[in-house]
Amino acid sequence: MSKNQLSKLYEELDEAHADDLASTPGRTSRKRQSRRSEMDARLFVRAQEAAGEFEFTYKAARFEEAWLLDSLHEIAGQQLISDVLRKIKSGKEASVYLCRSGASIEARLLAAKVYRPRTLRNLKNDAVYRTGRTDLGEDGSALFREADVNAIIKRTKYGEELRHTSWIAYEFTTLEKLYAAGADVPKPYAMLKNSILMEYIGGEGMPAPTLNAVTLDRDDARELFDRVVLNLNLLLQNGRIHGDLSSYNILYWDGGITLIDFPQVVSPESNPMAWTLFQRDVTRICQYFSAQGVSVNARKLAADLWTSYGHRIVKEVHPGDLDAENPRDRKLWERQQKG
Ligand SMILES: Nc1ncnc2c1ncn2[C@@H]1O[C@H](COP(=O)(O)OP(=O)(O)O)[C@@H](O)[C@H]1O
Ligand SMILES: [Mg+2]
Repeated sequence: MSKNQLSKLYEELDEAHADDLASTPGRTSRKRQSRRSEMDARLFVRAQEAAGEFEFTYKAARFEEAWLLDSLHEIAGQQLISDVLRKIKSGKEASVYLCRSGASIEARLLAAKVYRPRTLRNLKNDAVYRTGRTDLGEDGSALFREADVNAIIKRTKYGEELRHTSWIAYEFTTLEKLYAAGADVPKPYAMLKNSILMEYIGGEGMPAPTLNAVTLDRDDARELFDRVVLNLNLLLQNGRIHGDLSSYNILYWDGGITLIDFPQVVSPESNPMAWTLFQRDVTRICQYFSAQGVSVNARKLAADLWTSYGHRIVKEVHPGDLDAENPRDRKLWERQQKG
């Protein structure tokens, strides 16, 4: 970047911060703070752009651009991505973008799953999934400090941020674990504050469709069904239940499948709803494959898989009935643990 370009960027930065200096000392309004970090992020990416390290081909809506830039701020500095090409899809709690990768990643294209800011996320009923689960920090290791654990239980603002990070960390660490075990999941590259970078499934012009949008012939359907069952085995072997598995969270590309969307995973050992959730996953999969001509008995398949890993079939509780913070529900859970 030329000296001129640089000094122009700094001038703009100064202008953005001049507003702060003009305000009452010690009091920066939240609006101004967010405008400031938005400006910082924009300028940072523009500096990268000017230096030829980062582009922003995708033209986002104004508000989307602000949180996208804020999330990608960190990524740009690490040479993980060099361009945001376009939005693949907006899901319930995150948007996924097609990116060109940066110098430090060997694949040419990447998928960036960028979670919406905590306050704007359309949360899955997460109490069910969080019950019996240890919260994780940014680096994927268990949160153990009393202050952190208390903040989460008391749902302070800081605690809510920790929860949000933990939710994303579960998705990332699960991808790492399953990818290492040879499961059909996108290769995970990095977890940042608000986003996950992973292998992109699809072609340059077209992302992989989800399985629900695909009609298979009977032979292919059988083969892919067996492949899903293999993945269910790998999940159980690695102490995970997907928790939201269906043909909507499986991508289909080049005749193969890729399982996605893991933040809500639960442990078969420590979640009281484990059997119910596992059975629901298996049932939804079987519904799709039955419609494609594969004859299966969902309940039997679920029970065979479940018990083959030594898990017990316990009385079903309806999803949503359990609340991690409710003492009565905790007792129910403890009772079920004892058997
Ligand atoms: N690695 C990927 N490659 C290509 N497309 C992806 C990838 N990950 C997600 N997508 C697309 O983004 C959508 C939303 O991602 P998902 O992880 O399912 O989040 P949500 O919780 O919002 O449903 C998916 O349905 C799929 O179309
Ligand atoms: Mg999904």
